[in-house]
Amino acid sequence: MDKMHILVTGGCGFIGSNFVRYMLSRHPHAITNMDKLTYAGNLENLKGLESEPRHRFIKGDIANISDVEKAFADDTDIVVNFAAETHVDRSILDPDAFIGTNIYGTYLLLEAARKKGVKKFMQVSTDEVYGSLPPAGKFTEETPLAPNSPYSASKASADLLAMAYWKTFKTPVVITRCSNNYGPYQFPEKLIPLLITNAVENLELPIYGDGLNVRDWIHVEDHCEAIALVLEKGEPGNVYNVGAENERTNLEIVTSILDILKKPHSLIRYVKDRPGHDRRYAIDNTKIHTKLGFKPGRAFKTGLEETVRWYVENRTWWQSIRTGEYLKYYEKMYKDR
Ligand code: NAD
Ligand code: TYD
Repeated sequence: MDKMHILVTGGCGFIGSNFVRYMLSRHPHAITNMDKLTYAGNLENLKGLESEPRHRFIKGDIANISDVEKAFADDTDIVVNFAAETHVDRSILDPDAFIGTNIYGTYLLLEAARKKGVKKFMQVSTDEVYGSLPPAGKFTEETPLAPNSPYSASKASADLLAMAYWKTFKTPVVITRCSNNYGPYQFPEKLIPLLITNAVENLELPIYGDGLNVRDWIHVEDHCEAIALVLEKGEPGNVYNVGAENERTNLEIVTSILDILKKPHSLIRYVKDRPGHDRRYAIDNTKIHTKLGFKPGRAFKTGLEETVRWYVENRTWWQSIRTGEYLKYYEKMYKDR
């Protein structure tokens, strides 16, 4: 692809920061990265890029019109919208920010993109918009949207708005719906980094319900590669599911992590289930494979081992997060559960 100017929103979060690194290291593009730096956004995730002339950071809120106008002041060719409130449990505690950022924020970006006449608007979505699966079957792009949490309902709303901009205004929207990501720089409220960091500190590992809920895991770099591919070759008005065929129960995840770290299984603690807890997610990635040639490169076993090693070696990164607000959240979520 020719050199483009990409507006990345939420580029200081987990997937966004991996994507910024991924794109700068493999493509000639310039990136403007607008991030509100919520509790989940961290400039440390982009350490080393301070002197990279192709990366410009702006602190800003996608749900604030003047911030959005500032972000679009550059010659924006492409928008990749990662910015979102992303944790299901927080959306159960307090959905407000999910509606503001995920729905209204996406609307402001779509409106600015329409006026600017961008070449592509990529809405980074999630398989959670499809709801929960029975033990058999997989999500295809035709599976009806049936979200069950305030988080997934806000993402589904954003998807519908984005598709409406394609249908009504021909804004060249593409949507990716990816399964659960894991890898470096994931905020330690999410399952895998929470389990690793707790295990390293010999703390209990909370598992919701019977531990038999299934998630379909993909390494974050494989997700970044899929997004890059969709940016280059994806057809406007299309949805692409992204997955790597790694279905695991939460119990399988927790025991694998304990085994890698050589910690006892007695650290597992079953706790009260999450309300509305989706039982199973599984992605059918036939479309992105056959139409765009996507093939995830990372085997789950190796990817998980590497990820555990990354958290062990980057203790200062997560220890500086697991203070203040995080501890308050942790207590509210897990104490007496
Ligand atoms: P994250 O919570 O780690 O990061 C979100 C980032 O968005 C943070 O840097 C935060 O500061 C920023 N942000 C939040 N509100 C903002 C606002 N109003 N304006 C500007 N920036 C704001 O999330 P993540 O896991 O990196 O997810 C990124 C995107 O990918 C989200 O849209 C999410 O729905 C989607 N997704 C995530 C997964 C997953 O497994 N993590 C899977 C599929 C899709
Ligand atoms: P999570 O990382 O929150 O992702 P999502 O709910 O968006 O898929 O959770 C992944 C799975 O792990 C989900 O089934 C809920 C479960 N879980 C636990 O059992 N314990 C925990 O402490 C957390 C955070 C999640």
